[in-house]
Amino acid sequence: MGRIVYVNGEYVPEEEARVSVFDRGFLFADGVYEVTSVIGGRLVDFDGHAKRLWRSLGELDMAAPVDEDELLAIHRELVARNGLDEGLIYLQVTRGAADRDFAWPEGAAPTLVLFTQAKGIVDSPAAERGIRVISIPDRRWGRRDIKTVQLLYPSMGKMMAKAAGVDDAWMVEDGAVTEGTSNNAYIVTGGKIVTRHLGEEILHGITRAAVLRFAREAQMEVEERAFTLDEAKAADEAFVTSASTFVTPVVEIDGAAVGNGAPGPVARRLREIYLDESVKAAV
Ligand code: PDD
Repeated sequence: MGRIVYVNGEYVPEEEARVSVFDRGFLFADGVYEVTSVIGGRLVDFDGHAKRLWRSLGELDMAAPVDEDELLAIHRELVARNGLDEGLIYLQVTRGAADRDFAWPEGAAPTLVLFTQAKGIVDSPAAERGIRVISIPDRRWGRRDIKTVQLLYPSMGKMMAKAAGVDDAWMVEDGAVTEGTSNNAYIVTGGKIVTRHLGEEILHGITRAAVLRFAREAQMEVEERAFTLDEAKAADEAFVTSASTFVTPVVEIDGAAVGNGAPGPVARRLREIYLDESVKAAV
């Protein structure tokens, strides 16, 4: 609490921040977002997140409220004003406020909101012990490559996981794993790192792109293809990636231990490399 947040050009105490009740983000989930991690007061892979934001905006014919340089300046200003050393920056752009109408309004000014969330993300108990997941059907819409704020089904998935006494859920469609509720999913099998190929079925994770690049640079074999739940249960290792969890091992799927039930060497090594390289390259 007591944060300074950014709303449409202004830095204001969080309790004074206001967005219209007619905002289409509120009425239609007509908005996109990004989550960027902050380590040592610096932004991890800002460039990747900015590029994906522009892609999401473009896919929805939404105007960009600021340019990339200004967006970076806003991120940095929020880090400075909130004295943020470690945590996340959440950014949301919506199509703006207009009379309620399914058709997109002409000339509405986009809404831009950013806020910080202080959080220990590097030293993570979940990464140490690994997380447990259940599988659930993937009932999201068909354009999961666009990072929209329409997150009700992933929230339901988290609640299903919680009710089952585990950490998260992996979503399954046509027998194949798509991704986690808020992360990309991987297995290690036959000596290869396997993760679903890019397409409209999953979010094109910024952490995913970096981790696959580091894996290939470290001479690990990577296969980008769909994998089944059975394949995952029989794999040597499983893990997830996201901006907020980096690389986190998955040690149990639907009650069955993955490998020996402990975090595996590939996931551990990738987390180390990712953290080293990301901290070096942070801006
Ligand atoms: N979620 N897949 C989904 C469905 C996601 O929501 C996310 C990120 C990812 C990983 O993407 P990235 O590596 O770019 O963070 C994959 C963010 C962290 C969130 O909603 O909080």
